Amino acid sequence: MAVTRRTFMAAASAIPFAVWFEKYANAFMAPLVRHNATSLQGQAMLKIYAEAVATMHGLPHTDPIGWLFQWYTHNVTGTTTKAAAITSVYGGGSSPQKTLAQAAWSTCQPHNAPGASDYFLPWHRMYVYFFERIIRKVSKKPEFTLPYWNYSVSGAAHGVLPKEFRMPGDPLFKSLYIKNRNAPSPTVNNGQPIDMNDPGALSTHPSLSKCVYSGSTGFCNVLDNGLHGNVHVLTGNGTNMGSVPYAANDPVFYAHHCNIDRLWASWNKDPNRINPSNSSFLNQAFTFSDENGVSVSVKIKDFLSIAPLNYTYDAFEPLPNKCPAPKVGLEVAVEKFATLVEAPAAHLSLTGAPARVQLKLSAEPQAKKSPLSALSVPPPKKHYLVLKGLEANAQPGVLYHVYLGLAEGAKPQPDDPHKVGIINFFDAVPIEGAHTHDVSFSFDVTDALPKLKLANEPVVTIAPINQPDAEAKPVVGSVALVSE
Ligand code: C2O
Repeated sequence: MAVTRRTFMAAASAIPFAVWFEKYANAFMAPLVRHNATSLQGQAMLKIYAEAVATMHGLPHTDPIGWLFQWYTHNVTGTTTKAAAITSVYGGGSSPQKTLAQAAWSTCQPHNAPGASDYFLPWHRMYVYFFERIIRKVSKKPEFTLPYWNYSVSGAAHGVLPKEFRMPGDPLFKSLYIKNRNAPSPTVNNGQPIDMNDPGALSTHPSLSKCVYSGSTGFCNVLDNGLHGNVHVLTGNGTNMGSVPYAANDPVFYAHHCNIDRLWASWNKDPNRINPSNSSFLNQAFTFSDENGVSVSVKIKDFLSIAPLNYTYDAFEPLPNKCPAPKVGLEVAVEKFATLVEAPAAHLSLTGAPARVQLKLSAEPQAKKSPLSALSVPPPKKHYLVLKGLEANAQPGVLYHVYLGLAEGAKPQPDDPHKVGIINFFDAVPIEGAHTHDVSFSFDVTDALPKLKLANEPVVTIAPINQPDAEAKPVVGSVALVSE
């Protein structure tokens, strides 16, 4: 292969982001605006995008701005390990691109590591940022911005995959098409709303209402496991959007993450909704390829706010509630909960039929004497239903609705007031053969509890709407109702 300027520069070790930004990113022009994919501007951008994706598909697998390199930066394909993928693309020798692949591939956070859940938002912000620059370079359209897919919008576009992503016969847009997206019901590629059987799955309320970033009940984790994972599973199956190792091979992945990024920027519009400020978080670094194949080392502190990055959105989401001024250090506080009722070793196997688990009074002092009937006593505290230890062998392909206190024999219905949340297994299938981290969900049931008039030891019911994949064998490890 000829030594181009690109390969030459990539030979140097990663450039720190601040140095790179000075040199390559024009910070003095007006911020570029990312548009809704269904707007006129967004549709114009999708044309540029479709053409660039086709070009990237044609670049060599070794090329850092080619499609495969970008896909594998999220996670290498599910049939191989990272090491094997690198050897199969680059062979046994050494090269600057190979070094870059070693640093950048399979770095999606937090799917690959324990304790990385707070990195979910910044890592994907970085990924989308460099990907967008690569599209600009490949398309030779410096004005390009990545459009976002706003699945949560109300009205006719709610939950509908933008049409440009489902036009297999179109000479331009066929590059944005993936067959076998979630099917047969709903048929995503026919333009049916992805949540037609799962009302509530696309709500931004559970995440945007949070006042704290970190922790299992914080904004980042609730957005990641909830809305973000739901969209993956509802859009695709285990060979595309529904599975971590394949998801970034669907061009709609980047429009999905552009929207997730917009939700984070929306959340930060409130001065009381702040990002973590501890130095281990701020200084956590990741490596990406820029549009010239230059290796850039990016720290989270470089990506906490979009204004210095010189882009913005055509619209931000309004926030549903006010938050009190945060106490210093609150965002890294360890969550302390008292367990009221629990099934600590539930090992609940989920099938096509509703699964029920009986919660029992815990041994903690707060659990004594009818804890659930005393819930409305002031001062109001938050109560959460917590599901931990989610694991599946493969993507079940459906969401599961979680009900609290549903009477025995009652058919679970998604509009039942006992429904308190939805779980998905997007991040709960093995990566390179192993479960790398605990996947847990917590649902704020503070407002629901007084209305539900629960028995002291209520039952939790978990039910899918459609038939899950029989191979998936999803399990929920433990269930508990906790109090702040
Ligand atoms: Cu790294 Cu939407 O996933």
